[in-house]
Amino acid sequence: VKRVTTHIIQEMKQRGEKISMLTAYDYSMATILDDAGLDILLVGDSASNVMAGHETTLPITLDQMIYHAASVIRAVKRAFVVVDLPFGSYQGNSKEALNSAIRIMKESGAHGVKLEGGAEVVESIERIVTAGIPVMGHLGLTPQSIYKFGTYTVRAKEEAEAAKLRSDALAIQAAGCFSIVVEKIPADLGKLVAESVSVPVIGIGGGPHCDGQVLVVNDMLGLTKGFKPRFLRQYLDLYTQIHDAAKAFISDVKSKDFPNEKEQY
Ligand code: KIV
Ligand code: NA
Repeated sequence: VKRVTTHIIQEMKQRGEKISMLTAYDYSMATILDDAGLDILLVGDSASNVMAGHETTLPITLDQMIYHAASVIRAVKRAFVVVDLPFGSYQGNSKEALNSAIRIMKESGAHGVKLEGGAEVVESIERIVTAGIPVMGHLGLTPQSIYKFGTYTVRAKEEAEAAKLRSDALAIQAAGCFSIVVEKIPADLGKLVAESVSVPVIGIGGGPHCDGQVLVVNDMLGLTKGFKPRFLRQYLDLYTQIHDAAKAFISDVKSKDFPNEKEQY
């Protein structure tokens, strides 16, 4: 199989082929997603929510991200694997950001990193890119800043914030980002950003004009019961299916139906 590269991802934008991206946090799921042909797998710090049960992405550590990333990398033959720099591992200064990115690349075998923010993180992006590490940006609703926003509602509806987002996109592209995620922004703004930068813009609640789409895999599989933002298309109801399978197992054990003659030594 031919590995996806930043060059191939860039070409997809040029020829108008939409880029597919899902999150992955573990070996089993990453094996299936890579086999299905996803272009990019994101080891998102959403692992803090969906894997560890935290309310926000803030608590997850660099070591924990590396553990998830190494598990995903062991599964992947084709996809380009991007790993989130977690909260606190890059905001201090660009040297710290570079050291964190290097740890992720060395200790997990990932292919690139992602970090949140615009003008504030330009110096860090430049420094990481200079070291030869592909960087993906992330603008709009950046969950590591949730306590600044105070809400998970759609961002950049007001002109001031929209203008800042557009200049941030240009700034992080100039700093060397190979791609930019935009989260929960108006579709018109997603279109403007995708048209104003040459690198692929990948949306999550960013509208249909983005160059690609990303979802949290646990959400699109229906594992996260009760989480149904407008941008989420739910492809399965795995919560119910796993719940019913567990119920059936309990029933089979209690009724002594399991194990039967063929299921013993
Ligand atoms: O952590 C994550 O899952 C993400 C995606 C939502 C883009 O950053
Ligand atoms: Na993230």
